[in-house]
Amino acid sequence: MSNPESAVIRIDNENHVFPVRVGTQGDLGIDIGSLRASTKCVTYDDGLANTAACESAVTFIDGEKGILRYRGYPIDQLAESSTFIETAYLIIYGELPTRQQMSAFSQKVLRNANVHESMRHLFEGFPNSSPPMAILSALLNSLGCYYPEMASNNRERDLQTFDEAAALLLSKVRTIAAMSYRMKHGRPFIYPRRDLGYSQNFLHMMFTEPYHEYYPHDDVTKALDLIFLLHADHEQNCSTSTVRMVASGGANLFASVSAGVSALWGPLHGGANMQVMDMLEEIRHDGDNGSRFIEQAKDGKRRLMGFGHRVYKNYDPRAKILKEACTRVLKTLGAEDDPLLEIAHVLEEKAIHDPYFIERKLYPNVDFYSGIILRAIGIPQDMYTVIFAIGRMPGWIAHWKEVAENPKSKIQRPRQIYTGHTERNYQTMRERSNGAAPDHTLEPHA
Ligand code: CMC
Repeated sequence: MSNPESAVIRIDNENHVFPVRVGTQGDLGIDIGSLRASTKCVTYDDGLANTAACESAVTFIDGEKGILRYRGYPIDQLAESSTFIETAYLIIYGELPTRQQMSAFSQKVLRNANVHESMRHLFEGFPNSSPPMAILSALLNSLGCYYPEMASNNRERDLQTFDEAAALLLSKVRTIAAMSYRMKHGRPFIYPRRDLGYSQNFLHMMFTEPYHEYYPHDDVTKALDLIFLLHADHEQNCSTSTVRMVASGGANLFASVSAGVSALWGPLHGGANMQVMDMLEEIRHDGDNGSRFIEQAKDGKRRLMGFGHRVYKNYDPRAKILKEACTRVLKTLGAEDDPLLEIAHVLEEKAIHDPYFIERKLYPNVDFYSGIILRAIGIPQDMYTVIFAIGRMPGWIAHWKEVAENPKSKIQRPRQIYTGHTERNYQTMRERSNGAAPDHTLEPHA
């Protein structure tokens, strides 16, 4: 299609002309901002699959070609040469850092690794069985109570403290995550160390025991750092859109990313990495290499978890990178015979050659191989989505910043097509109950 400057919508034989917005990569969006005023119609787009809710300069995806770029840089180049923290800087500030900027940023992240000592007591209030995602969401929001000067719900003021708040969140999300794991397993909290990098510090807080320091293999640290980096942003996905939605009302950064964690939790989004492992275990138990599971997926009875994507209609480039990393790290750890990896390979082969998956363009997504790596590293399954959340933090922060810095940003307030009752009159309880005497046990205030 050429680049049209306008689009026409014809309603009741009348043409209505709307401008077309063009992105830097040729994305075309019909700006229907004045549609309702001129026609009384709104657009209806189930799942917002065809709606650009904003303009954004953070991440570009071409789902047909399997392209993903953060701030213009191809994901495979970043995966090859960058680190999570450098990529986080890129995502948040728009440019790769100079040596000086990188050093200042890393120092700020490091300085912020500890949580306020009294936050430990918040963990005591949770039952041991609490899902770590629930704890993470609650504690990220509560961070705003510890740093009220950064959580004023006044955009101008919150932007003044943004640099500190961003570094603080990037750093503490990892500490809180590790603490939630330690609490669940009845182990003492481990303080972060000053001399460790981002991902190694996380592994240290997870696995060090009193009098027994945990030193991960370099390949393990690199694999975890890569997982964080590959999750760092993914434009307007469910959780990021949630962060932007909350931010659009003027809420502070802590409240906004806490909502992002809740949105991420669901099995169709970040929770899929846990479900993939359940699926692979189930297939192992069945012993049929996934044939039954695939048939059930084709019958619409269940979904092949870690497969399919709203935007990618080709192989998810993150899955490609993780598949290679998976083989590498499992070899390092002597776990290359992990039966779940074998099952994943067989399942993928079966699915990508099956007409059902071919017709619907369903390929492995980022969640398909990440769980196998995390399992090999020793991270328990209920932490997988938490790992996703740590990785996604730079993206959420960058999108909050885009919303807060835009003087024209509007509160997000979609419309609906109402399908409920038309107007009707209130009836008293006696009328609704066909004249029966009131039951005071059910309605103490009636
Ligand atoms: N297994 C079997 N069939 C599927 C799957 C799947 N994983 N995904 C989509 N389909 C089918 C679906 O049944 C539908 O078939 P039909 O046209 O016959 O009704 C068709 O493909 C289109 O599916 P959809 O639900 O309209 O697609 P969507 O864009 O709304 O959903 C998705 C995207 C990711 C939610 C979906 O593919 C899915 O449920 N995948 C499994 C969960 C998963 O792995 N989620 C992680 C996503 S990537 C990481 C992230 O962003 O969180």
